[in-house]
Parts: sequence; structure tokens; C-alpha cells
Amino acid sequence: MILPVSRRTVSLYPGEWLDIARLAAAGELVEGECERSFAARFARYVGVEHAVPTGTGRFALSAILRAMGPPPGGEVIMPAYEDLSVPQEVRGLGLVPVFADVSPESQGVGVQGVLDRMTDRTVAVVVAHLFGIAAGIDAIVAAARGRGVKVIEDCAHAVGTRRDGTHVGGAGDAAFFSFHSTKPFMTFGGGMAVTRDPELAARIRALVEASPYPSRADLLLRVLSTYALAAMTSAPAFPLGVFPVLLLLDRLGVDPVGVYDRAFRRPVSVARTDVRLANAQALVGLRQLDRVDGGLERRRANARALDAALGAGIGRPDHGEGGNRYFYIIFDDDAPRLRSRLLRRGVDTGRGLMRHCPAAFGLRPEDFPNTTRMLETSLQVPAHEGLTPRAMAEIAALINREAAGARPGPAGPGAERPGGHRERRWPAGAPGAARDGIIPP
Ligand SMILES: Cc1ncc(COP(=O)(O)O)c(C=O)c1O
Repeated sequence: MILPVSRRTVSLYPGEWLDIARLAAAGELVEGECERSFAARFARYVGVEHAVPTGTGRFALSAILRAMGPPPGGEVIMPAYEDLSVPQEVRGLGLVPVFADVSPESQGVGVQGVLDRMTDRTVAVVVAHLFGIAAGIDAIVAAARGRGVKVIEDCAHAVGTRRDGTHVGGAGDAAFFSFHSTKPFMTFGGGMAVTRDPELAARIRALVEASPYPSRADLLLRVLSTYALAAMTSAPAFPLGVFPVLLLLDRLGVDPVGVYDRAFRRPVSVARTDVRLANAQALVGLRQLDRVDGGLERRRANARALDAALGAGIGRPDHGEGGNRYFYIIFDDDAPRLRSRLLRRGVDTGRGLMRHCPAAFGLRPEDFPNTTRMLETSLQVPAHEGLTPRAMAEIAALINREAAGARPGPAGPGAERPGGHRERRWPAGAPGAARDGIIPP
């Protein structure tokens, strides 16, 4: 058994608390000069002209949408497999979320799915680069432009993700990023709206600047909950404290993932979301820009090690050349069982990564079979920047062994291949999959 490892890490850097303490001593914790320089440097990093920092990713999305000035009741097409905050923000603005099933390979939205849903009420399309996989966007942009529909990129997972050498976020009309504490680029919560359009940028900036900064108490809550998460996901607290609890819950048949995620996401989420980015967060963002590529390179190296070591029969999405490898996903027909087996051997994996948004909005899940299947079969495997090559080799060996061991017999749904692994089921196994027009990642 390898030392118990968490699938999560918090991307702190040495001495960020000193940066924060210095600003606190100078009375510049909340307001100061860093916001503007962070925006300018982030825009350069992404390769766009304008960037507006916000207190959360969802606030960046809502500012973008409001700045676009859509008529009430306008429809916004988005992936069915998304963070629930996206349709919630859309609905909160009096707009109508319209869901398109995802393509299993790219986890983006197939262009046909979007075109099928376009009506004369469509005002915008959200394209999500989920898990740091660059979704195909060019055909969606071309189709949307012809109809006066705006394209917004959800880059919440995609700092550092490139497509054909270009950072994602500049292909549509605007994009938003999230710097939540669990993201590889984190500013104790936070976000950014980016665009190439100077007029849209001015409207977004005016809307954001009309909002308050977080209170010092809010900021403290964000910082303390992030440190708690950092402690709980690393040694010694993870192996000695959290892991035994996860094991116990697993043995009692309680889904530990839900408990774990709710416990850690809530503290950051209870803080008010429609706020500006505080000066201290912007300074952390500036420091993160200096180190983010190094951290992502370690993630990519870990992901490459898994790519090479995992058996060919273990399904996984294609991340393309430029993916940031934020999440390493594998597919298994009996994901709860595989999760349980890996946990008992010290490897924490994640399930239920995004939400089935149509189901959460009262629509029939059967109409979105790929989303349903994505939720049922995905496991997030630890491959973050804190893990060593040795840990990656052990994790890969364990997955190869347990995925094979968890497999039903040859007569079961995942008939064996000579290599000892289940036949890859994605995307072929997706019932009624919207294969037409799927854009390769
Ligand atoms: C894909 C996706 N979109 C949007 C968001 C919203 O970002 P935030 O939590 O910073 O508001 C998240 C949050 O994790 C996300 O994962």
C-alpha cells in the first residue's frame, strides 16, 4: 500500500502568508495597486487585450452576460455537464439555460448539438474547457457569428491550456476563469473576465467596479478555509486524519466523496460571490503567474506517466497536446466499486465531478445520455503537482490491478481483452451519443 494520497492539492507557494501579512500591515489588504497590474499581466498571459478581475468565476460570467445586454428570456446554450453555478447565474439574470449533451471524448459540446438548439431567441453559447481539455470552438464561433450569437468560454479549469499553441479564452467574444482554492491557479477564490473587445471590456469593468470589495471577514474566511483544505489534503493530516474517515465512510456504505466535497467547498462558497478581487488576492495572483507554468509542467509530467503506464483498456478522454492536465479522468463501468478498491489501498479518487445540470433543473436525464454516463463512469485520479514520479508509478500499477480485478466476468458488460483490461467503452458505449459534428479536442 502506498502512503495514502489525496486527489486534491492546494497550489500555495512558499511565503504567500508573508505577502498577505505585509499588505495587512500596510492597510492594503482589500484595496490597492495590485488589482490593475494583475489584470494586465493575466491578459498578456492569456493573449487577450482586456481582463477584469472578480471575486469569483461565476461573477465574471454574470458580468460578461450583463455587459452583453441580452433581452430578458434570451436563451443561453451550455453543456449539460457543467458546474451548476453556470446555469444558476444564467437563470438569475432572467435568461434561459438551454442544455446540450456533451461529447464524451472532448467533454465539450458537439457543434451539431449547439446548432440543433439555436433558435431566434439564442443570445449566447457557453463552451467549457472542462478539466483543462481544450474544447473545439472554431465551428461554434463560425456558426454563432453568422447569427449574431455571442460565444463565452468557460475557462474555469483552463489556466495554461492551449489549443494549437494559443491559450484558450480568446477565440469567442469573452471568457471567464475561476481561481477557486482547489484550482491549479488559485487566489483564495477569485476569477477573471477576459475579452478582446474594448467596448465590452469597458462595460464589464463598469459593472464589476460598481460592486463592493469583500469584507475583511470574508477575506479571512477564504484564506483560513483554504489553509484548512491545504492541511487536510497533505501529510500528516490526510493520511492520519482524513483518510481513516474516508475509509470508515466507505466501509459504512456512505459516499465519502459527497461528504468530503461539501465539507471543503462550503466555507469558500458561503462568502458573498458578487464581489471584486481584493488587493491581497491580486498580489497572490501576480505571484502565481510567475510559478503557474512550472506547477502545470509537473502535472503534465505526472499525467504523461499515467498515460504511459495505464493499460490500453482503461478509458480516458483525449487531452490533446496543450491540455493543462488539471484533472486526470479515467472511465470505469463500475466506478463506485473501483473507487472503493483504490481507496482501501490508499488512493483517493473523485466521482461526480461536475453536475447533471438538466436533472438539477428538473429536465429528463434520459435526454442527456452522455452526461449521465460521464457522471456514472468517471473517476478523477490523483496526478497533481505534489505527487512524485514514484507515487505515479505506484498509482498506475494499482489502477491497472484493481480495474482488472473490479471487472465483471467475460460475460459481463465489459468483456475482457487479452491484455487483462476492460475494453474501452467510451465513447462507443454511450447510448444515443450525439456523435454528429463532435469537434475533436
Ligand atoms: C467548470 C466551472 N465553471 C464555473 C465555475 C464557477 O467558478 P467559481 O466557483 O469561481 O465561481 C466552476 C467552479 O469551480 C467550474 O468548475
